[in-house]
Order: sequence, then C-alpha cells, then structure tokens
Amino acid sequence: MPAPSSQPFCTSSIIGTGSYMPEKVLTNEDLSKIVETSDEWITSRTGIKERRIAAPEQATSDLASEAARRAMASAGVTPEEIQLIIVATVTADMFFPSTACFVQKKIGAVNAVCFDISAACSGFLYALQVARHFINTGNRTTALVIGAEKLSSLINWKDRNTCVLFGDGAGAVVIRRADESVDAPGRVLSTVMGTDGTLADVLKVPGGGSACPITPENVSSYPNTIHMEGRETFKHAVTRMLEASQQALKIAGLTAADVSLVIPHQANARIINAIAERLNLPLERVFMNLDKYGNTSAATIPVALDEASKGGRLKKGDVVLLVAFGGGFTWASSVVRW
Ligand code: UT7
Repeated sequence: MPAPSSQPFCTSSIIGTGSYMPEKVLTNEDLSKIVETSDEWITSRTGIKERRIAAPEQATSDLASEAARRAMASAGVTPEEIQLIIVATVTADMFFPSTACFVQKKIGAVNAVCFDISAACSGFLYALQVARHFINTGNRTTALVIGAEKLSSLINWKDRNTCVLFGDGAGAVVIRRADESVDAPGRVLSTVMGTDGTLADVLKVPGGGSACPITPENVSSYPNTIHMEGRETFKHAVTRMLEASQQALKIAGLTAADVSLVIPHQANARIINAIAERLNLPLERVFMNLDKYGNTSAATIPVALDEASKGGRLKKGDVVLLVAFGGGFTWASSVVRW
C-alpha cells in the first residue's frame, strides 16, 4: 500500500450535495428478456434489482449539470461563485473538450476552471482530493466536484457478465474553504489514494482510444464496451477497500468504531458486506442503494452521499467513511466529519 497522500484536519468542507438519476428504469426482469439471466441470479450475486438508463439525447454532461444545479441549490451558492469544476467520468461526452467544459456552459459557471478526471469508479474521490488541494493551498475557494456516468453507452447488451451490472446517473458536491478556527460541518479529515497499473487489463474498455481505434473490421467484436474479469476484480476490491478505509481512519485519528456511516462504492452487495464484516460494522451503519441503481462508477458515492444526507441518515458531527475501488486498478478512501 502506498504511503498516505494527505494530512488530516485540512480545511475543505462539503457544503452541499445533489444528484440526478435518469427516469427510465431497467429491471432485472427486463434484462432477462435480452440475455440469458434471471432476477434470482442478479439479485443473489450482486444485490442489484434495477438500474436507470439515460435517454438517447442525454449526455453525461446533462446528468452532471442537473446534479450540479441541485448541489448548488443545497449549498446556497450561485453558479458565478463556483471557481473550479472537476468531473470524474469514464463516459465523457466526447474525447475533448472535457465534460466539465460542457457542464460549465450548461450551468453558467463562468468563473470556473474546468477539467475531467479519469479514475473509473474511484474517480469521485480522486476528484475530491484534487479539489481539496486547490482549496487548501488557497488557489480556489469554492468548487464543484461531480461524478457522472452514462455507462449504458459502454455496454455490450449481449454480454451477460457485464450488462446486468451498470447504470447511469450523476452526483455532485460543492466544497468550500473553511475557516480553520471554525468547526465547519462537512469537513474532509483525510484521504488516501492508490493505483496498481499492473492490473490495468482486468477491467477496461479496450477500444475507441489510440491503442485500438474503432475500425469497420473490429467493431463487431465490441471493443468499445466494458470488459471485466469479475472474480479478479472482486478479490482486489475487497482487499484494497478495506486497507484504504483503515488507512484513512488512522490518518484522521479515528477507528471503525467511530464511524457513523460507511458510504462505499456500489458495485456488489457481497463486496460491501465483506468490508463491513472485516471492519466489524453492523449493516445499519453501511449505506446501500445499488438495488435501485446498480453500479454507476464515479457517480455511486456522491449519489449515495446525497441520498444519505437528504434521507436523514447523517447528522452534524457524524463520521462518514467514503471508500471506492475501480478500473486501473484505482482505490481511495476519505473520512468526512458531517
Ligand atoms: O466497479 C468496479 C468494481 N467492480 C466490481 O467490483 C465488480 C466485481 N465483481 C463482481 O461483482 C462479480 O464477480 C460479478 C457479479 C461480476 C460476477 O459474480 P461471480 O460470483 O464472480 O460470478 P462468475 O463471474 O464467477 O460467474 C459464475 C457463473 C458463470 O457460469 P459458469 O462458468 O460457472 O457456468 C457465469 O457464466 O455465472 C455465470 N453468469 C451469469 N449467469 C446468469 C455470469 N453472469 C451471469 C448473469 N446471469 N448475468
């Protein structure tokens, strides 16, 4: 495990959350009519019951912009106050410009500097950490950090190994520099991040980039869709998410017993249960909404954080543990004092 990448008690606070999930629901039953699968298999192996699918005319930036508007409303900030927009996504609207540039245009955040981050399912926590560095060094005071995905655009609907797992959606937070002398709610206490590129081929979209452009000859083998070795990914996810959680808590000077709510990346209920068990945390202190949305990659954590916050699962002073794992492999964990 690499050395911790940050110090505790920094001065960035989450001051608002928002999320947007597309209206169209695709159930396990619906999928069983497309590929050889069943509600029983999907539910017992993953915990997923249904997922949301964006409309054809909706791009990732549309989902992201709606989540951003809701986060700004909840924070009580105007678009003009936003000085930085980072979008974590693997389903950018296009190769360039970045999705964040389109979000800026759509929400009117004229004073923001904008870019995307590619760290798959860990993307939101990577982006949060980058935004913290901008804020804690005094470079910016107010930022929008967004996790947004239209994964339905990367799915091979003939591959039952992957098509049942993913969905579309977006979540966002507004973070702001907090006065160190004030016990500001939403303060990010610690973050750890890690990467193991030797396992980059285990979970990937191999085609469509410079290594393997899409051609008339290769398009029929679906290179521009998600390819995953599920069991291998599962194994590393449990190990890395557990290690990252323990490290982030240690840096914050806390233990698992102090955690009020864990908000883990929503990929598989069995992964989440395994982590909760190893951290010795009862399931009442673990947030899960993957039954409704499936795996929305970079969006899972900000969407879950928004639902937990607005659903009354968080009160001032609560210790919230965020932890993610994804393609790369990448992983990250943050501890937040709500
Ligand atoms: O977000 C990034 C991180 N992602 C993850 O963390 C995902 C990690 N991996 C997983 O969640 C699980 O590995 C999966 C849910 C993807 C798969 O579960 P599994 O228990 O590891 O199943 P498996 O891949 O070992 O497949 C078991 C069987 C196979 O059949 P055979 O070879 O044993 O006859 C598969 O062909 O289940 C079969 N199978 C299915 N059957 C019905 C695979 N997908 C399906 C399906 N419906 N949708």
